Amino acid sequence: MTTAAGLDERVKVWDRFVRLAHWALVAAFTVAFLTEDDAMSLHAWAGYVVGGIVVLRVVWGFIGPEHARFSDFLYRPGVVIGYLLALVRLRGRRYLGHSPAGGVMIIVLLAALAGTTGTGIWLYGAADGRGPLASLATSMEPAAPIQGEGREIDGDDDEYDTDDDDRRDTRNGDSHDGRDDNALKEIHELLANLTLLLIILHVGGVLLASFAHRENLPRAMITGTKRR
Ligand code: HEM
Ligand code: HEM
Repeated sequence: MTTAAGLDERVKVWDRFVRLAHWALVAAFTVAFLTEDDAMSLHAWAGYVVGGIVVLRVVWGFIGPEHARFSDFLYRPGVVIGYLLALVRLRGRRYLGHSPAGGVMIIVLLAALAGTTGTGIWLYGAADGRGPLASLATSMEPAAPIQGEGREIDGDDDEYDTDDDDRRDTRNGDSHDGRDDNALKEIHELLANLTLLLIILHVGGVLLASFAHRENLPRAMITGTKRR
């Protein structure tokens, strides 16, 4: 039989890595989202932190403790839909680990974060000749740069030729590559905005579940403990 004291008892749910990774992800994503060309190094480093955490979190999903494992929070689609329908009527079952809907959101979020970081690294390499994929730019550099055009590769730090608005000229000095870079930039931005939309839904879901279960879930992500 459950006693009142039993109901008050706190149990450890989120391990230290999950909690640290979560809040570091929030900080790094925020920095990456709010910085752009004027602070490109900071933008790239914040993005690398996001990418690194995503990779570690995926590994942790296989080797971590019970509630960190994917196997603990991946459910059949019918269960996810049933949970969501019940949640909007504030009747969703309470789960100690991630709920079925929360579990799906985590997978989608991790994939969106990975896509944003991946396209960012690709763009940084192809358009700016920087980062781990910098070789993409050198391999696409025109054999004989046209006079007065082209990205400077003389070692000085001028990333962009800011007096020229045309990206094709300021990036690789080659119209074909410039168009590709612009498309890549659009995709990167689109993924970043899509991720932001998912984050808004994620926070909305957390608040709704907190309300439905009369339980402060953000606090549980800080302390790591929940009501039994
Ligand atoms: C950049 C913004 C955010 C990202 C990328 C993000 C991502 C994630 C991820 C990946 C998880 C899964 C945790 C794990 O198992 O490792 C998670 C869970 C969680 N997040 Fe966030 N999150 C963000 C913002 C927030 C904010 C602002 C809050 C607080 C209001 C929040 C509250 C939570 C909670 C409470 C959970 C656990 C959900 C549960 O009880 O099942 N998140 N988040
Ligand atoms: C989750 C991580 C990331 C987020 C949320 C993010 C977000 C964004 C956003 C919103 C823009 C558009 C800025 C504008 O309006 O011009 C942008 C541009 C860009 N990002 Fe990222 N990014 C991330 C990761 C990365 C990484 C890891 C790199 C490279 C290592 C990168 C490289 C770039 C570059 C080169 C641009 C184009 C800047 C310009 O020419 O205006 N990003 N990013």
